[in-house]
Amino acid sequence: MKRNNWIFFLPLVLFSCSGPKNLTGEKELPSLKKMFQQDFHIGAALSAPQIQQKDSATNRLIQKQFGSITAENIMKCEVIHPEWNRYSFELADQFVDYGRKNRMFIVGHTLIWHSQLSPFVQKIKNRDSMQLFMENHIRTIVSRYKGKVNGWDVVNEALNEDGTYRKSIFYELLGEDFIITAFRLAQEADPGAALYYNDYNIEQPKKRAGAIAIIKKLQAAGVRVDGVGIQGHWRSYKVPLQDIEESIRDFAALGVKVHFTELDLGVLPNPWDSDAADVNMKAEYSAKMNPYAGGLPDSVATQQAGSYGELFRLFLKYKDEIDRVTFWGVHDGQSWLNGWPIRGRTNYPLLFDRKLQPKPAFFKVTETKTNPSSRKSF
Ligand code: XIL
Repeated sequence: MKRNNWIFFLPLVLFSCSGPKNLTGEKELPSLKKMFQQDFHIGAALSAPQIQQKDSATNRLIQKQFGSITAENIMKCEVIHPEWNRYSFELADQFVDYGRKNRMFIVGHTLIWHSQLSPFVQKIKNRDSMQLFMENHIRTIVSRYKGKVNGWDVVNEALNEDGTYRKSIFYELLGEDFIITAFRLAQEADPGAALYYNDYNIEQPKKRAGAIAIIKKLQAAGVRVDGVGIQGHWRSYKVPLQDIEESIRDFAALGVKVHFTELDLGVLPNPWDSDAADVNMKAEYSAKMNPYAGGLPDSVATQQAGSYGELFRLFLKYKDEIDRVTFWGVHDGQSWLNGWPIRGRTNYPLLFDRKLQPKPAFFKVTETKTNPSSRKSF
């Protein structure tokens, strides 16, 4: 070996001692999608500006961290199908192109949901027109993205908290079979796409029983249902781990995959001390309800990190039943929880902060992979 050859090995030695560094010498952040590659997809819901790649730093973060994307709003009826005979596909096309270009698992959200409906749908008064709307809507949208969108939230939030059917316009006009109709139409339009029933609080026993009944009903009707989406809008200080574990087992026992579709762990008080994530719930602003406007206290960040860690340890325990864990947003600054159920609050529900920096929660999540002994409790 020549005298100075060791110098060529120096970068390699440094690299292997301290993990990858970027050009400025900072330690590079691990990639969630790579770390959990063998376990389940790690996804994020994207807003319209994110789909349009308006901010390059956010865009780099998305591409590095997330292997699956869900449309946060732009595939909802009020955006994609504003009038009987008019669809607006521009943003949805961009969303699907973005996912394909980046080889992501693409989720369409959502075909049949009582919220964010176009005014023309809210005015439908009879069974035949509603049936026709569903046929047009599902066939047109799903067939446009046939072979491109990997999975659809076919029906969203059809249940009340006690597990009975929500009296939505679909239920009122078509009865409970509207769910079977929706899944059948989606299956016909793209036999290759995975089809999900998605809802919040279906980890809770009564509502879970309702979701189980829906899945069994679809199966009995010979209609394919591939997965159930547990939204996962939980409060950081009150994550129902036991119920979540039981639901993973119960849903898996039906032969469907479990997806955590809208995960965020809010840190703010809830005005009704409720776990419901109904987008139509609203409360008045008060300073008491917005305690961390000046910043997230360390103690709260640590508490939240612990909750995320526990959740991901549970997810890893059941990785064979879980296909995907999607966060409802990319960073705290753009989370819907800053505006719901009270406008103008400052919430901190995600793994990245307003400056796109990883929070303690990010590191607790990655630790579940790098430090298996931290998994002992399960
Ligand atoms: C939310 C979006 O994040 C907001 O931007 C929008 O104003 C309201 O809807 N359950 C769902 C999601 O299934 O579609 C909702 O998304 C959050 C609750």
